[in-house]
Amino acid sequence: MQDADGKVLRFGMVGGGVGSFIGHVHRKGAEFDDQAKLVAGCFSSNFERTLNTGAQLGLDRSRLYRDHLEMAEKEAAREDGIDYVIICTPNYAHYAAAKAFLQQGINVVCDKPLTVTVEEAEELARLADEKGLLFGVTYAYSQCPAVKHAQQMVRNGDLGDIQVVVAEYPMGSLAAPVELEGKMPWRMDPQYTGISNCVGDIGTHVEHTVSYITGLEISELCARLDNFGGKNRALDTNAHILLKYKFGAVGNYWCSQVAIGYDNPLRVRVFGSKAAIEWCQEIPNYLIVRKLGEPPQLLARGHSYLYPEAGQMTRLAAGHSEGYYEMFANFYAKFNSALLKRKQGLPLTEEDLDFPDVKAGLRGVKFVSRCVESSKQGSVWLKFD
Ligand SMILES: NC(=O)c1ccc[n+]([C@@H]2O[C@H](COP(=O)([O-])OP(=O)(O)OC[C@H]3O[C@@H](n4cnc5c(N)ncnc54)[C@H](O)[C@@H]3O)[C@@H](O)[C@H]2O)c1
Repeated sequence: MQDADGKVLRFGMVGGGVGSFIGHVHRKGAEFDDQAKLVAGCFSSNFERTLNTGAQLGLDRSRLYRDHLEMAEKEAAREDGIDYVIICTPNYAHYAAAKAFLQQGINVVCDKPLTVTVEEAEELARLADEKGLLFGVTYAYSQCPAVKHAQQMVRNGDLGDIQVVVAEYPMGSLAAPVELEGKMPWRMDPQYTGISNCVGDIGTHVEHTVSYITGLEISELCARLDNFGGKNRALDTNAHILLKYKFGAVGNYWCSQVAIGYDNPLRVRVFGSKAAIEWCQEIPNYLIVRKLGEPPQLLARGHSYLYPEAGQMTRLAAGHSEGYYEMFANFYAKFNSALLKRKQGLPLTEEDLDFPDVKAGLRGVKFVSRCVESSKQGSVWLKFD
């Protein structure tokens, strides 16, 4: 089953060159548990840069490609071709790359937002389904043991009926017009980013983390997007979103990139009829639980009092911090294990497929589209589906 290196799956990357923000996080995550190995790539639209990245990562020159089309075709034709591709280019390029690999019968992991239009995301979901291929989307925050425990609490009825959700993702990264200094170059450009910057970039994380924990489905939303932080910015940097979910619960989300002094504290609070939970990405190893009539509890990752599903997602003893890399590793552990099982011809269970997938990616793109549309129309309530 294992190759000469003792690794099992082979993957390639489109985007994620040396110096990119998220590329190395994917590489570390995918290889964390020694189930997969990077063997190919088109790491940049500039071939020289792809060659440099490939050399730094010790890849064979023959498996470095000028573009995603050449890579998809040539890797599909090889006997030792990649089992899956990881796509972590700027948003606009996700769709074409994902489509090319699916068409060649290669499984896909793509970063969020999945695509820049709903139609593109729908097409990818359809193609993956038709071809019977695995398609993961790296909403990594949901892959944290404390978040898994929160999800299990909801599923087991520990919170009672969910009534209210409050979630926020404040960052200060675009509080000043840094794009004028050549920083974060593509993020404020609709050609590369799509119709939304703030909701697309971090609002999608809020949407997915809430959905993952609660299982709630949005029925309607009302959004106000603003382009604060610089003159003539074409895209949003702040969003307030009100939500109604199916079966009566309500919520509000705030995401901002002009929240001076904030780094990455994605925070989700869920209030049920019996108890409430609170989780924050900057202190990911802990979950606050508030039960009616009782003092608050602070649950810590790594203890046997957590649900076993959360225990399975942890590697270190309690008290040694796990964080961002481990969240990606948890995503890839599930994706790699599912793919290995499929390669052995075994059927996949719901548990095997418990990673954010193309349907979650499509829902995120829909969320972005509805928020932008609601805001454009003067912050009106819009049906989600
Ligand atoms: N899941 C998360 O938590 C998370 C975090 C950060 C970024 N992201 C997403 O990851 C993606 C990349 O973000 P980033 O911050 O790493 O961007 P980045 O600008 O730092 O890196 C982009 C990389 O893609 C390469 N690239 C650009 N166009 C390409 C093309 N046509 N073909 C091949 N390579 C190309 C660039 O050379 C660079 O290496 C975005 O979609 C972003 O939303 C997700």
